[in-house]
Formats: sequence, structure tokens, C-alpha cells
Amino acid sequence: MHTTPPNDIEIRGLSGALGAEILGMDLSRPLSGAETELLLNSFYRYGVLCIRDQKLTYDSQIALARIFGTPDVHPIANGMEEYPELIRVMKPAGEQAFFGTSWHTDNSFFERPSSVTVLYGSEIPPVGGDTVYASMERAWELLSEPLKAFLEPLEAVHSAREAFDPRTTGDAKYNGETAITYTYSDAIYEETVHPVVRTHPITGRKSLYVNEMFTQQIVGLSKPESDGLLAMLYQVSTRPELTCRVRWEAGTVTIWDNRWLQHYAIDDYPDHDRLMYRVTITGERPA
Ligand code: SIN
Repeated sequence: MHTTPPNDIEIRGLSGALGAEILGMDLSRPLSGAETELLLNSFYRYGVLCIRDQKLTYDSQIALARIFGTPDVHPIANGMEEYPELIRVMKPAGEQAFFGTSWHTDNSFFERPSSVTVLYGSEIPPVGGDTVYASMERAWELLSEPLKAFLEPLEAVHSAREAFDPRTTGDAKYNGETAITYTYSDAIYEETVHPVVRTHPITGRKSLYVNEMFTQQIVGLSKPESDGLLAMLYQVSTRPELTCRVRWEAGTVTIWDNRWLQHYAIDDYPDHDRLMYRVTITGERPA
């Protein structure tokens, strides 16, 4: 995957499965119609766009995110005071990272889960802190027909209970040790039911829609049956050949489609700060 569109913008595939790096685009000012079209077409084709060498303000990041829809205001992870839709994801040197450090799809526990995430790298460790993405569309395609037929009508319960409950996270998040602040409320325990297989509203393609961080149980199966089936789906959907990996630099903006991807922020930089700014977009109910 390597294409060179006209106007000095270069697009390079990140892996055989998904993802592309874009060079030569300036996201700090309003994009032209042609640039917006290029951005959206590339986004629907590659799923993860990693756009280098940007200088975004809070306002320009939010304006960029609005190309994809309306930003969420997260009910648990607090946004910035003046910019509630912008979460400052800071991991200070000497602390463990908590935010996004296992396979997940952003906010799948919302009734209308986030469709798109726009993450801006501000301070990046000299080595480590990469983010890995996996194609749940490719994972679905590779399943056998009998398993697809079994999974297709199923639904699963999603909740933030495991990821955000201070009783399972040792209170660290709520003590501000990660430098992200959280609102502790019943939203943590709310449950939402989504289909196990969803169809993308724009591309019409199907993908698996379960993830280790937020999916609790498949409806109608016993807990051991559900746990076993989910464990197998997580294993097959995160095989290296279904992934791409983003190496961040200060000034990298990565935009990804949560409707057909999972991702994993690698916590391998204990001695360094990492500062990111994140906006997510309110999606549609998965169908
Ligand atoms: C996230 O899960 O949205 C954060 C990903 C990252 O920090 O790389």
C-alpha cells in the first residue's frame, strides 16, 4: 500500500493489514475541500491515519475532530476545564500508565460508542509508548463460516466496571497518580448491550465488536462459555498479521476508527513522561 496523491501529500501504508502515515498535510488550519476528501477517503480505507509534524492548539484539535462528527464529553475521565471534550492524557515519569493499556475499543460501554478518536502526541518518550491497532474487520473475515453463523445473531454486555472501578484498579486513578482526573459515579457500573458483529455505517463492511477492556459477557451464554468464547476471539483478533503499530513523535496526530479497530497503548516507558491530548467522536448505535 503506497500511493502518492497530487498536491505534495504523501501516504504510506503502515502494515499489510491497516494504517497509513500521511506526510505533508497541515492540520492546524482549516482544510480545503480536496484535503478533507483525501483525509476522509484515506480514513475509511486505512482505519488508522498517523499524520506527522503537526502543531495543534486545543481549538485546532477540536476543529479537526469535528470533521468526523460531534465530540464526546466523557462521563468518567475528566476533560480540561475550558475544553471538556479534550482529555489531557498525562503519564508522568516514575508512574505506571493506566489509560488504554490493554486491548480495547474506545468507550464501547457508551450507548453510542465513540466512532473516531483523534489523539495528539505532545511529549513522547525517547523510546516506548507506541500504540498498536488491530483490524476487527480482518478478524471477522478470517473466522470460519460455522463460527460466523453462530456469532452473528449474538449480543454482548459492555461496561466500564472493570476498567474504571477503583476497587479493581487499586484507587490509583482516583488519587490522581496518573495525572488524569476521573469522576467516580454510577456511570462506571452502567451496562450497555451491543451486537457481537457490527456493520460499518459508511463502508458497509462487517467486523467483530468485542474487546477485553469493556465487554463483560455474551448474552444468553453461561459465564464460563462466554469467557471461553471471548478469550478465543481476543486471541484470534490480535494476531500480529492483523495489526499495525504507531511509533509516536512529538507532533504526531493519529486518527482511528473505533468501529472496526481495537488498540493497545504499550506501557513500556516507566522513566519518562508521555503527554497526549484526546478527543473522541460520538458514534451511532452499533447495528
Ligand atoms: C487510548 O486508548 O485512547 C489512548 C491510546 C494511547 O495513549 O496511545
